[in-house]
Amino acid sequence: MSPMLQRPRRNRASQTIRDLVAETHLKPSDFVWPIFIMDGTQKSEAISAMPGVYRRSVDAWIPLLKEACKMGLKSFALFPKVNEELKDPHGAISLKDDFFLYSALRQLREEIPEATLITDVALDPYSSDGHDGIYKDEKILNDESVEILAKQAVLQAKNGAHIVAPSDMMDGRVAAIRKALDAAGFKDTGILSYAAKYASNFYGPFRSALDSAPKSGDKKTYQMDPRNSTEALRELRLDIEEGADMVMVKPALAYLDIIKIFKEEAAVPVAAYQVSGEYSMIKAAASQGLLDEEKTMLECLTAIKRAGADIIFSYYAFDFCKSYKG
Ligand code: PBG
Repeated sequence: MSPMLQRPRRNRASQTIRDLVAETHLKPSDFVWPIFIMDGTQKSEAISAMPGVYRRSVDAWIPLLKEACKMGLKSFALFPKVNEELKDPHGAISLKDDFFLYSALRQLREEIPEATLITDVALDPYSSDGHDGIYKDEKILNDESVEILAKQAVLQAKNGAHIVAPSDMMDGRVAAIRKALDAAGFKDTGILSYAAKYASNFYGPFRSALDSAPKSGDKKTYQMDPRNSTEALRELRLDIEEGADMVMVKPALAYLDIIKIFKEEAAVPVAAYQVSGEYSMIKAAASQGLLDEEKTMLECLTAIKRAGADIIFSYYAFDFCKSYKG
């Protein structure tokens, strides 16, 4: 038998060697923790579709966010839960100065100055139709929606958001938001665009967390078709041209190829969102004893980073940091 010169297993012989040759390392500062905020004080509600995730009033979040910051997890994405009776077709509540999200932002800025606050720009949490844009005669009105989104972004910046994150997938919204922010004096507020956001079934648990599912129709005329990747490149190039400082791929695990393409193409940081369905799928399997939760979580998050994500949005961010050993 000829000698075998190549034995790749040598590099896997012990934990120390495996650590030595490991190419991908997760750390707390890679993460953004998405949190659901509700109005009121001392409120905390479990979300049944996302075991272990809670909607909380801002005062109830503060101690947890401080704990997260101490572990090196300092970036948070805020998603407000709006009561049904406050919703209307134009999401008017999102343009009111006294909307609770804005006071929550101010409070967070004051009490946790080390935190980076990222806010979601879209209509669906506020819209009685449950769409990310204005819905009229079974159509989404692109340009009219963009006007509202730009105003939302300005109010978010004014009240303390460091980065605004349009997740709506309307055409031209990044340029409109950049222009509106600059005109209002917020030239330093960043834009993280959800550049390739797919029309995904994995958003189901999030929509039940916010009661934000579309009342009729679906999101396929604005969110991307899961069959396409060339289209993602077009969205990426447009968003960067329009002024995006960071770009996102969403969901993450089923779209690792898109993350990789973004990383190769984009001269800006790439974020990926491990969405609600990805989280709940692991939780559900673990609760039935079918998967080891922590190991599966780590494997999925590692895969997302290995594919090229510089930033990972994950409901597991806090749990990851708790189990992080450096
Ligand atoms: C809405 C928005 C969604 C998510 C983030 N922003 C849902 C949707 O587009 O229907 C999903 C996040 C998740 O599933 O965790 N603009």
